[in-house]
Amino acid sequence: MAAHQIIPAPRDYTAREGSFSLDSQTRIVAASSEAETAARLVSEYLKAAGLTVPVDASGTATADPTRRIVLTAGGPPVYDDAGFTDESYRIDVAPDVCRLDAANREGLARAVQTFRQLLPPSALGAAAGPLAIACCAIADAPRFRWRGLHLDVCRHFFPIDDVKRFVDLAALHRYNRIHLHLTEDQGWRVEIKRFPRLTEVGSLRHETLVGHFNDKPHRFDGKPHGGFYTQDELRDLVRFAAEREVVLVPEIDMPGHMQAAIAAYPEWGCTGHPIGLREIWGISQDILNVEEATVSAMEQILDELIDIFPSLFIHVGGDEVPKYQWTHSKRVQERMREIGVHDEHELQSWFIRRMDAFLQSKGRRTLGWDEILEGGLAPGATVMSWRGEAGGIEAAKMGHDVVMASNTHTYFDYYQDMPTDEEPLTIGGFLPTGKVYSYEPIPAELTEEQATHVLGAQAQLWTEYIPDRDRLDYMTYPRAAALAEVVWTAKENRSYRSFLERLAVHRERFAALGVTAHPRP
Ligand code: ACM
Repeated sequence: MAAHQIIPAPRDYTAREGSFSLDSQTRIVAASSEAETAARLVSEYLKAAGLTVPVDASGTATADPTRRIVLTAGGPPVYDDAGFTDESYRIDVAPDVCRLDAANREGLARAVQTFRQLLPPSALGAAAGPLAIACCAIADAPRFRWRGLHLDVCRHFFPIDDVKRFVDLAALHRYNRIHLHLTEDQGWRVEIKRFPRLTEVGSLRHETLVGHFNDKPHRFDGKPHGGFYTQDELRDLVRFAAEREVVLVPEIDMPGHMQAAIAAYPEWGCTGHPIGLREIWGISQDILNVEEATVSAMEQILDELIDIFPSLFIHVGGDEVPKYQWTHSKRVQERMREIGVHDEHELQSWFIRRMDAFLQSKGRRTLGWDEILEGGLAPGATVMSWRGEAGGIEAAKMGHDVVMASNTHTYFDYYQDMPTDEEPLTIGGFLPTGKVYSYEPIPAELTEEQATHVLGAQAQLWTEYIPDRDRLDYMTYPRAAALAEVVWTAKENRSYRSFLERLAVHRERFAALGVTAHPRP
């Protein structure tokens, strides 16, 4: 058996004699102001387990508690030019004191999540009564900086509390980035005050495809599907994630995947015809035009987005842009001559460059799917490589940062078990947990220097076939537990056999948390 039951596995774990008991006599101490949020979070988590353990702020212990949980963060985080900081931490559990130490609050937030996994699994739910933790010493740090999960809230809308839960479960696995895919052909999910029709019109589709996209003839459910997040709800979500030191990376997907926006503002489209939202899956031909007014509208949308989301990286999509309408629109062709671009790929590149320049002027960095390489990569852009790793390799060789989101190992909308016809319907593909676990985010083709541009990896939860929270759990876990170990744990410490042993205990945590994970492997 593994010496510990922690997922992802920490760098060093040493078992010690004895145990630390948690009961109503225990106190939590924030040894510095930087540690206060983490201390409150520990208290909140213990409260959910049925234990009231108050926080004594900034070392001002009121009484002399029998046992203390002491949290220390050295100082404010120092961020690198991609917005990352030292996430290392130590945990020391002795019979009278349990110490969580980190250089900054971000490392401390990771320590809090490991601490949760030191508790009996039932304590992640509503376990009552005293709890004990086996004494130990842990020294830990992540392998990769970007450890992400993406969530498509457009194909199916998820209430804000489901998104919070998704964030908290990600945090439990020491993920630090949640990529929110907020706009699609099938629904626009973010309130934009300057363009109210985006949500008034764009957030509600009349009905939804039933069965698989490839099943013909298409059948529909006849039920309206909609929803969006107000800016206040999103600010509250940002706060919730920040308490866990998780950064929400918002995406406005452009210039394709824009049918819902064009339904709301037909003047942004290429045909001038009124259209509705897309009610089937697949890719819409309706893409943005490139009039100055349209480009400026996109900048205004990004401007509101930046005001909500402090993330350094802002995702501008750029994937799957069918060029048919650009090729066949006289006005777009005329505009191409005005701008001085020679073909539609260059036009797409011109569009993304405009967004990149805008984001840079606001002190942010541009992130886009690997299609943004086509026609020339914008100077400041970071590439999210989804069509395998080729785009990521190309970008890293050019000296651009990349996030690996390869559909070979990180598309969690694919089937995870055989026989697939006994599984709930998915988009297709096959990605079992063992294959996720085997993933190596650094391609062998890269030199050591080029490899430093691989910020990390993330999994994608596209939700065409994920209609609700339970299915989301089922598709996310345990695969996201496996990927967490890929991106956190040192390569030499990875062992699938050990992971499976720990997963058995981790499943008790899932049960306590009400997570309906896939039952295998
Ligand atoms: C994607 O799957 N279209 C990024």
